[in-house]
Amino acid sequence: MNVCVLHNNVAPGAGPDEQDVLVQAAEISETLKRLGHAVCRVAADLDCAQVLSTIRRTQPAVVFNLVESLAGSDALIHVYPALLEAVGIPFTGSSAAALFLTSDKLIAKRLMACAVIPTPAHIDLNDPLACVSAPGTCIIKSATEHASAGLEADCVVEIGSTADAAAARRKFAQRFRSGRFFVEAFIAGREFNLSILDGPGGPEVLAPAEIMFTNFGDRPAIVGYSAKWSESSPEYINTQRSFAFGDTDLTLLESLKAAALACWREFSLRGYARVDFRVDAHNRPWVLEINANPCLSIDAGFMAAAGQSGYAPEAVIERILHAAVLKQEAVS
Ligand SMILES: Nc1ncnc2c1ncn2[C@@H]1O[C@H](COP(=O)(O)OP(=O)(O)O)[C@@H](O)[C@H]1O
Ligand SMILES: [Mg+2]
Repeated sequence: MNVCVLHNNVAPGAGPDEQDVLVQAAEISETLKRLGHAVCRVAADLDCAQVLSTIRRTQPAVVFNLVESLAGSDALIHVYPALLEAVGIPFTGSSAAALFLTSDKLIAKRLMACAVIPTPAHIDLNDPLACVSAPGTCIIKSATEHASAGLEADCVVEIGSTADAAAARRKFAQRFRSGRFFVEAFIAGREFNLSILDGPGGPEVLAPAEIMFTNFGDRPAIVGYSAKWSESSPEYINTQRSFAFGDTDLTLLESLKAAALACWREFSLRGYARVDFRVDAHNRPWVLEINANPCLSIDAGFMAAAGQSGYAPEAVIERILHAAVLKQEAVS
């Protein structure tokens, strides 16, 4: 079938986090061709009418949606899915609503709290009346930016009072691409990624992955910007993915899977997703964020988990396409 691979336009000179979508678009296009599909690639920008007419000219049976941001803002991630829904063109992955609700971490955390999905306590730094009720070690995070943009070791801070929160508000005012950011309780324990793939029997949780931090010394163990994107940095070299677990982890892995599936259901996710967790000293999992459109490049966490579960990239892409077509059949 005709598949239009839609990705965000990347400005020349953009950082590796933004360039990454081009790697995904190239890899997925090749995989789709190997599967026998006819592929066109379209770059999306803020000229929505022009982009939509280019998409239409490709006469797509499905759009493979890889748009992660528009005009450098991750807060616009849902715009093309909303337009495609409005004009009735099927597309892969989650709906516009699910992308919006998950990619705004403050909204996602409120919804998780309502659904009794554990997520660390937080203070909204944009709320001038925000006050500190439980002092301790915290992390400063963007509400809408992803891929650890702006996140480094100095984002882990002690917040003991409302004055500390105000100082953090001033210090980090220019740090993140979008101005909205918040303080979240820092969970000092292990880190896990749970990937989920749609399938004939419903969502399937793929092999859980643990991020192993080594040689971090006194630095906070986090997957910040350097750990994700600066290949020669100590943070990158010393954060390795592992799929090896002993029997003592079985109960924890079950609770991680249950929480990941609860996120899938609560946010009506579709196609594929990845949920990031930390686990505290009492072995309790806490959801850090829900990625409704996680990176699909071969070396990223989702495809690694799929490979570990016995799925080649071709099988993953076919399943994601199938979920998009099924969804369209259900609404028409
Ligand atoms: N509350 C937290 N406690 C401990 N570490 C955190 C917390 N929130 C984020 N981190 C660290 O920061 C990384 C990035 O945060 P995350 O919320 O997953 O945002 P994103 O991946 O979208 O940038 C996580 O992988 C984790 O290492
Ligand atoms: Mg993350």
